[in-house]
Amino acid sequence: MLKKVTILGGTGFVGSQLTIDLARHCENVTVLTRRKQRYRNLKVLSNVHLKECNVHNTDELGAALAGSDAVINLVGILNQSNGGGDNSFFGAHAELTRKVVGAVQDCKISRYIHMSALGADAEEGSSEYLRSKGEAERHIETGLHAAENTSNCQTTLFRPSVIFGEDDSFFNRFAPLVRAMLVFPLACPDARMSPVYVEDLSNMMTAALGLPGENDAAFFADKLEQCSIDKGFGLRAVEICGPRDYSLRELVQFTADTMGLKRRIVGLPDWAARAQAKVMGVLPAAPFSTDNYLSLQTDSVCENDNCRMPTSIEAVVPRYIGDQGLRSDQQRYRSLARR
Ligand SMILES: NC(=O)c1ccc[n+]([C@@H]2O[C@H](COP(=O)([O-])OP(=O)(O)OC[C@H]3O[C@@H](n4cnc5c(N)ncnc54)[C@H](OP(=O)(O)O)[C@@H]3O)[C@@H](O)[C@H]2O)c1
Repeated sequence: MLKKVTILGGTGFVGSQLTIDLARHCENVTVLTRRKQRYRNLKVLSNVHLKECNVHNTDELGAALAGSDAVINLVGILNQSNGGGDNSFFGAHAELTRKVVGAVQDCKISRYIHMSALGADAEEGSSEYLRSKGEAERHIETGLHAAENTSNCQTTLFRPSVIFGEDDSFFNRFAPLVRAMLVFPLACPDARMSPVYVEDLSNMMTAALGLPGENDAAFFADKLEQCSIDKGFGLRAVEICGPRDYSLRELVQFTADTMGLKRRIVGLPDWAARAQAKVMGVLPAAPFSTDNYLSLQTDSVCENDNCRMPTSIEAVVPRYIGDQGLRSDQQRYRSLARR
């Protein structure tokens, strides 16, 4: 049993699931957030502590991580704000990771889990998102090598495809758009991806921390071994995909079918996809941006079939798409905690 696990980005979609799962096995799960007031629902669990912290400030970060047995970094953004800095791709992904790896070494933390993405590559990444994720991976590798991993920190780097689950920003984003349009103009219809279920991912992370997990713990511990690539100095990289690959067109069609809607999906030619990204990128909350378009130029699929997780979109997505009576967050945390 780990006494204290500290999570950066633990208030988000993946983080909320992982926090709940870890709370069953750890005495203290501390979630660092920029705005504590926003996430009061997480406090429903008595051993989960929300701590307000500017994680970009190295002193505050070091103080927050000190005394942890494990640190998990889930911070990530899909769109950057104009101001740059801490809210830019490089600030939130690469620069923050450099600081976290430094603090993990200084505080002699024995386990570190980092969330990257399939296709991350500091030089060849097709978008700024993917290049900044690749730069973050590079900071981890060079950080551990330079320090010769003096703290013997076991580090696991996860590289998932798109992640789905009740609060995802994939099916939940497409669903209202598909509902609103009889003819759906789709950018990058042939982009390929392999949606992975958030609970499968959380189980893999639990296994990476050496925790017992739930019913299928042995299965996920085996999976972790099968899809880990050893990078030396205590670092392993793990690619994660769902049971099968789909084109984006198939996933949008699946969304419409699941909602019982007859829709015509029209794949946009490249010039129109770029124009759509430019226009939508300046709308509030930027539902689709030029950087998103560029990310879709790289398929998000796994080469190793051992990296496939068991849960399919067909088994889970019908439970939450089109269900207007979604349970409140608080009810969800309560019911998951009792599960
Ligand atoms: N969702 C996917 O399909 C998918 C696919 C591949 C990889 N990933 C990666 O998985 C991780 C988790 O994804 P998610 O979907 O759970 O994301 P999410 O719901 O958007 O949550 C991201 C978290 O990061 C924190 N954060 C955002 N910007 C920050 C900044 N500038 N500085 C400090 N903290 C910041 C937020 O915490 P506070 O607001 O509380 O501070 C938030 O809880 C990310 O690294 C993402 O890139 C996700």
